[in-house]
Amino acid sequence: MILSYSLTRRNAVVVLMIASCLYVLFTIVTYDIEHFLPMVASFRPARYPLSTGSHFKETSRRIDFGLVMDIPATSIVAHAPGWTLFRNLYMSNGTIFLVYSETKPESFPAPRMMISTSLPAFNTPENIAQREPTKEVMDFISSEDARRRWGGDHVNGERNRIWSIEGITLLVNDPPQFLDHYYHFVGEFLLGTWAFMYGAFNPSTGMATSDDWLSAYEGNASFNYYSDIYQPPPFARVSFMHAPAGSWRDKPGLNSFILRAVFPSTAIEMAEDWADRVIATAPPAPPSSDLVQHSRNLVADSNKAWHFPLVLLTDRSAAHRGEACGQRTQRIAAEAWEYMVRQNGIDLIGRWWQIIRETVWRFSGVVFSDNDDLNVSDSSQNLPLPEKIVITYISRQTVRRHLIQADHDALSDALRDLIARKRDAGKSWELNIVEPEMLSKDEQISLISKTTILLGVHGNGLTHAIFMKPTRLSAVLEIFYPGGFARDYEWTTRSLGIRHFSIWNDTYFTHPNEPMLGYPEGFHGTSIPVHGRTVAHLIEDWLEGTLSQDHA
Ligand SMILES: *[C@@H]1O[C@H](CO)[C@@H](O)[C@H](O)[C@H]1NC(C)=O
Ligand SMILES: *[C@@H]1O[C@H](CO)[C@@H](O)[C@H](O)[C@H]1NC(C)=O
Ligand SMILES: *[C@@H]1O[C@H](CO)[C@@H](O)[C@H](O)[C@H]1NC(C)=O
Repeated sequence: MILSYSLTRRNAVVVLMIASCLYVLFTIVTYDIEHFLPMVASFRPARYPLSTGSHFKETSRRIDFGLVMDIPATSIVAHAPGWTLFRNLYMSNGTIFLVYSETKPESFPAPRMMISTSLPAFNTPENIAQREPTKEVMDFISSEDARRRWGGDHVNGERNRIWSIEGITLLVNDPPQFLDHYYHFVGEFLLGTWAFMYGAFNPSTGMATSDDWLSAYEGNASFNYYSDIYQPPPFARVSFMHAPAGSWRDKPGLNSFILRAVFPSTAIEMAEDWADRVIATAPPAPPSSDLVQHSRNLVADSNKAWHFPLVLLTDRSAAHRGEACGQRTQRIAAEAWEYMVRQNGIDLIGRWWQIIRETVWRFSGVVFSDNDDLNVSDSSQNLPLPEKIVITYISRQTVRRHLIQADHDALSDALRDLIARKRDAGKSWELNIVEPEMLSKDEQISLISKTTILLGVHGNGLTHAIFMKPTRLSAVLEIFYPGGFARDYEWTTRSLGIRHFSIWNDTYFTHPNEPMLGYPEGFHGTSIPVHGRTVAHLIEDWLEGTLSQDHA
């Protein structure tokens, strides 16, 4: 009786599995031909994949893993230090599990290049050692082992004790240390995330498959603007696994402004929410009496796991273990960017950032032509010229790090003189000397969207450079205390195809002639010198194309 019942069940499972394989195969084949290929050429997310009236129904692509014997193995779509896009990643009791089907593939990157213990980073040997990941942070298990832990008793009708978190998830394994800062959050973390996603899903790299698109995409009727240009699928959620609620907000509120503008549908989960998921999959406390112990193995019976069909895991400490970030740029985004440039997934002139840049402009009320596609080859020499020259000097005189007041005054005068001379020569150049904190966010973005030259003292005020329009003449001029240099804005603007000049009072330099990193006494002070006429001449020479060759 019991035997025949279980045989029937088993037969039913086999039939179901064959049927779903056929269905999946059919779906992928027809999907590929009728939907995927044309979409690559002209990608319109709004119509994808919910085309009604055809054979293709949303539910038909659902794959039920509830009764599978083989827990789907983890694979990697793309990886650079600190940035890893996985298929089929698992979490149980706070540990990230990579499941392998036969033997553990040697091709998995070392865990330390993907993850850390998510402690705040300090440059001491103890702290560096404490951030090395343990098996409690990330572990590898066989598909068989996974089934022993989380598999259901199929014969008795129990489904696998694994719950999928559908859509693409962005897992951020960092402490709050660098999150509540506009530059680190938007200029580094968001920029790197986009470079990585843009490249990984870009058909030119061949990394993501049409199946990945299927499991990623959730389409709905929407008021949002959909561009015809290619973009990767959206995140369903971002999880700041180790940052308590609110800890990703910067004081001026730019982090949330930008994140909500570019990903309006992305749900945000914080450490408290991650803890919910950890606790829900924690094994029960051992039974107190051995009376119950013989009846069932509580630990094995109750083990549960979460499944991420598609997930980008980011980790700041792991990125710093990479050569590009750790030894050359100190930018976590550089690991994502350099990898995707090598894979031909992103370009060198900020075309890959265009959709983010323009989404933020649009959100801020900037009106511009949709046909402004950067239809040029990968050289900034081929970018269009700006319609109008706009010079924006971000004054920091009212905040902590700033110029000697007399030098600020002389710089402002030299810039006004430059505009007057150009007016006499029949050119209408525009000058804005602004304290950003006096402008609304919309006004700040609107100003930056038309800025050709952005000038200011090293500091967070220069982060807005990432929303400048790349033109042949776009440039950022960053004033350092003489002898001081940091890569924050230098690397970041260059990664978007924008020229960067560092200024030391009456001298300046540009890539590839930048000096060593340095934070001399005075770097963060309130007496930074600058020779205004040197700056005005540099701007004029750069814009007029008369910069001497060793600097151009
Ligand atoms: C669950 O996680 C806790 C905290 O990391 C750990 O002490 C415990 O050993 C874990 N239990 C199992 C069964 O892995
Ligand atoms: C891009 O430029 C090329 C050559 O200048 C032109 O043939 C092509 O039609 C342009 N493409 C678009 C989409 O404008
Ligand atoms: C800055 O440059 C000017 C012009 O060369 C010079 O007169 C001044 O002494 C310099 N200031 C510092 C602090 O070096």
